[in-house]
Amino acid sequence: MSDGRALAREYLEQQRLLGGNPVVTGPASHAAPPTAQPPDRQSADLPPPGVSYDPPSADLFAADPVSQAATLQAVAALVAECTKCRLCEGRANTVPGEGPDDARLVVVGEGPGRVEDETGRPFVGKAGELLTKILGAIDLPRERVFICNVVKCRPPENRLPQYDEIAACLPYLHRQVELLKPKVILAMGGTAAQTLLDTRQSLGSLRNQVHRFRGIPVIVTYHPAALLRNPNWKRPTWDDVRIARRLLD
Ligand code: URA
Ligand code: URA
Repeated sequence: MSDGRALAREYLEQQRLLGGNPVVTGPASHAAPPTAQPPDRQSADLPPPGVSYDPPSADLFAADPVSQAATLQAVAALVAECTKCRLCEGRANTVPGEGPDDARLVVVGEGPGRVEDETGRPFVGKAGELLTKILGAIDLPRERVFICNVVKCRPPENRLPQYDEIAACLPYLHRQVELLKPKVILAMGGTAAQTLLDTRQSLGSLRNQVHRFRGIPVIVTYHPAALLRNPNWKRPTWDDVRIARRLLD
């Protein structure tokens, strides 16, 4: 790599760690006016207006170990050593995600909870049991689905992941999706949906449409933990996962 490129990379990495806008990624389509974030779990801690989660050009980061990871296991090995954000400090285990490398459906949640942190496996607590049932209802045994989260380490007290934590962790998710090349992505909850779709729109407004992430259809639905609190959302969730199922068929 030339000195200029090395310098550019270092600069971008610094900007990224500082939570700044690493590059101008195109027209300011995300520059919605700043809106007050409600103190509930409706939406993730979002980047400042105009800042995009879209990583800089693949070429600039070509030597990045995450984008070079050749297998899901290699991604998980990098996650296991990761100290790119403060969430590493409190973790018992990293939770990279699990499932077959030929999975056609990828489920993306928010981040590990207590049981996930203890076991290193995604969605194994109460919300996970419900996810397993939801997948069973569309004839998808959990073992055939790749299940992961936006952040791979547990946020303390299960708080929402913060923007810089998401930004630090996102390359892992992006690489997992690149390697898996799934037919459909199911984004569960506001954090997964807003992160993957790089938007501030509410979960409610994102449902009922087929979105795309790098060309892959994305269906947005409620988070299973939200369903445990609000059984009224079960019916719409079933509708959403049926759409995902149809896209798989
Ligand atoms: N909630 C999530 O978002 N992910 C898990 O892995 C478990 C609970
Ligand atoms: N808000 C969320 O973040 N998730 C849900 O599932 C519902 C509302």
